[in-house]
Amino acid sequence: MKKIRKAIIPAAGLGTRVLPASKAVPKEMLNIVDKPAIQYIVEEAFNSGIEEVLIITNRGKGAIEDHFDHAFELETKLEGKADKKDILDSVKQCSKFGNIYFLRQKETGGLGHAVLCAKSFVGDEPFAVLYGDDVIISENPVTKQLIDAYNKYSKCAVGVKEVPTENVMKYCSLAVEHLEGNNYICNDMIEKPKKEEILSNFSILGRVILTPDIFDILENTPKGAGGELQLTDAMKAIAKRDGVIAVDYDGTRYDMGNKFGILQANIEVGLNHPEVKEQLKSYIKEIAKTL
Ligand code: UTP
Repeated sequence: MKKIRKAIIPAAGLGTRVLPASKAVPKEMLNIVDKPAIQYIVEEAFNSGIEEVLIITNRGKGAIEDHFDHAFELETKLEGKADKKDILDSVKQCSKFGNIYFLRQKETGGLGHAVLCAKSFVGDEPFAVLYGDDVIISENPVTKQLIDAYNKYSKCAVGVKEVPTENVMKYCSLAVEHLEGNNYICNDMIEKPKKEEILSNFSILGRVILTPDIFDILENTPKGAGGELQLTDAMKAIAKRDGVIAVDYDGTRYDMGNKFGILQANIEVGLNHPEVKEQLKSYIKEIAKTL
C-alpha cells in the first residue's frame, strides 16, 4: 500500500456566509488569535507526515500565497532587533513548513471540482483533503488519525462528527455501522439531505483520505446540490462499492466559513494561548456579569 504523502487544501470558495469580511481577504486567511485559519491547517498537514501540499486558490486569494512566502522587507527590518526575535522567528516559520504548491480553480464549481483540479498533482497515490475553512484543534492531528485508519483498514477514510439535524441538512449524512473504538464503516452517504433522507446525524467535517480512482468518478459525476460538483456524490460511489471508514475523530472543529465559528475559534484558542489566556479569562468573566 502506498504511503500518504500528499494533501490538497481547497481554498477557492467564495465564502458568501462570511461576507463582507471575505470580500477582499480570503476567508481561509481570517484570523484565529495570531495566525490565519489556513496556517493551522497547513501545520496539521505537515504534523501528520504529509510531504507535499497543494492549495487550491482562486482570483483574489493571492494573500494565501504571500503568507507562505518570505516577506523580505519585513524580515530585514526585524533582523538584528533582539526584542523582536520571537516575532521574526514566527514570520520566518511561515515560509518553512515544507513544499507548498498553488493552483487556481478557474471557476467556483464546488468542492468536487476543486479536488478534480488536483488530478495531475496527485498522480496515482492516495491523498488527504483538508477543507480550507475547517480548523480542527487536537493533540493528535486529525489528518494523522485518518491516515492511521486508512493504513489499518486499507479503505478511504472520512472524518466525522455527530451534528444537530439542522446542520446535517446543510452538510451531509452518512449511513454507518460501528466497527471498533471511534471507527465506523460507511456504505452510503448523501449531500445536503432533506429531513426524510437523513441516514444518521454523522456528517463529514473537514478531512478525508481518498484514493486516486476518485478522479474518474468525479469526471463522471453530474452536478449536484447548488449546481456544483459535490465531493460527497463521488465519495458515495466509493462508499457503496468498497465502504469507507468514518472516523469520529478526537478534536474540536471550528467552521471558519461561518460567523459564529470564527468567534468560537478565537475565544477557545485564545483561552489556551499563553500570551493572552489570563487577560481573556478575566475579560470574559467580567463581561459575563453584564449579560
Ligand atoms: P464551502 O462550501 O464551505 O465554501 O466549501 P464556500 O463555497 O466558500 O462557502 P459559502 O457557501 O460561499 O459561504 C468548503 C471548502 O472548499 C473550498 C472552500 O474554499 C472551503 O475551504 N471550495 C469550495 C473550493 O475550493 N472551491 C469551490 O468551488 C467550493
